[in-house]
Amino acid sequence: MAKASTSAFVCQACGAVHAKWAGRCDACGEWNTLVEEAGSAPPGALKAEKTPTKRGPKTEFIALNSDVDTPPRVVIGVDELDRVFGGGIVPSSATLIGGDPGIGKSTLLLQAAARLARNGVKTVYVSGEEAAAQIQERAKRLKVANSPVQLATETDLRRILAALKEANPGFVVIDSIQTLWSDSLEAAPGSVAQVRACAQELVRWAKKSGAALVLVGHVTKEGTIAGPRVVEHMVDAVFYFEGERGHQFRILRAVKNRFGPTDEIGIFEMHALGLTPAKEPSALFLSTEAEPGGGTAVFAAMEGSRPVLAEVQALVAKSPFGTPRRSVIGFDAGRLAMIMAVLEARCGLNFAGMDVYLSVAGGYRITEPAGDLAAAAALLSSLAGNAVPSRSVFFGEVALSGAVRAAPRMDQRLKEAARLGFQRAYGPEGSPAAEGGLTVTPIARLIALVDLLAPDAANA
Ligand code: TYD
Ligand code: MG
Repeated sequence: MAKASTSAFVCQACGAVHAKWAGRCDACGEWNTLVEEAGSAPPGALKAEKTPTKRGPKTEFIALNSDVDTPPRVVIGVDELDRVFGGGIVPSSATLIGGDPGIGKSTLLLQAAARLARNGVKTVYVSGEEAAAQIQERAKRLKVANSPVQLATETDLRRILAALKEANPGFVVIDSIQTLWSDSLEAAPGSVAQVRACAQELVRWAKKSGAALVLVGHVTKEGTIAGPRVVEHMVDAVFYFEGERGHQFRILRAVKNRFGPTDEIGIFEMHALGLTPAKEPSALFLSTEAEPGGGTAVFAAMEGSRPVLAEVQALVAKSPFGTPRRSVIGFDAGRLAMIMAVLEARCGLNFAGMDVYLSVAGGYRITEPAGDLAAAAALLSSLAGNAVPSRSVFFGEVALSGAVRAAPRMDQRLKEAARLGFQRAYGPEGSPAAEGGLTVTPIARLIALVDLLAPDAANA
């Protein structure tokens, strides 16, 4: 690529390139995100450079149902990771894995690399963040130091590509994309222009060589992968590695996957010896107390095809402040506000002057609307000071009208709850009546739950 002499203004949120500075990015609408980057040619120039000049054979069209060779997946051998990939990693693909610093991205990928290398896949691990000694130390800790992984500590894209072309590996980890720089641009490493250019080159190489490429990406305070969204568009799959630092559980969640489902999660435990697939993952997010007290309710959740039981904890207390506090961990703040509004408008409850806290145990994050009923049960239980019926689970989406809507895969939720020893379930109308020792009480409207859990609160 020729050295571009012009500079341009690049939006640090979406990566759009502008010829002039402006307070607001036209492309994404964000304010104060345009930064001048020397060497980032304006869009026209960039395109002109990329257009291939050679005339190749014309594109062939094929029928939708014609036979094409799909490359076989390579099973990594780390079960929970294979599950998120959709049954193994696909050759000629690029995957971006994001997550907070220290969450375990390097650990997970070193473990995956070691497994693949031991199974005969030529594997390269390029680190731009850590010294070789640090990675070797980690490998020793993970007891994979003898695995034939090829290690490099390098940040210069040109040198990395040259080495990759020579080594011709089947699996490559780049840790992380933000540390790389290409000398064809004058922008600093980590800038949008550099991240985009380096990712593009690497993805192009992976597609051509047939390697499976994994890029590690840092996450900003806002929780998105730093650098332009365009990197997410460039790759075939985007996974987020998440969890609370204080807890040992880590969840790998696919937000995009061209080769597999996006609703599967991988659940790991972080130990002194690295990450292991969690044993009995559906019971991880329950408290260890035999009988949890007031303000807690268990949600029978689904994560893709996997049932998970998660404890929702609520605390409703008189506020010492003029403006009461509303705070959530692991739950959507907008949904909590909606549930409280429905409890007030349809069920006669009053949260005025009350602080409300909602938290999900074990670092789990509820993303399903079906979590509404469990959140409502936890709130009601805390408000009334009564524990919910013992060994019970809740699920169902709350509508603004106060109706409780059906949730997908109700029988699977109930089966898992019964298997884990729960005795009662409260779900939408139309749930199966019973399931292996579990009695199911249908809750058609939220008011029925109020009558059950906090009959006096409604009249107050
Ligand atoms: P790391 O993989 O370096 O995180 P990232 O690459 O996402 O920044 O993991 C860092 C944390 O994991 C660190 O705080 C130590 C912990 N850890 C363990 O608990 N056990 C282990 O075996 C390893 C290698 C790390
Ligand atoms: Mg790391």
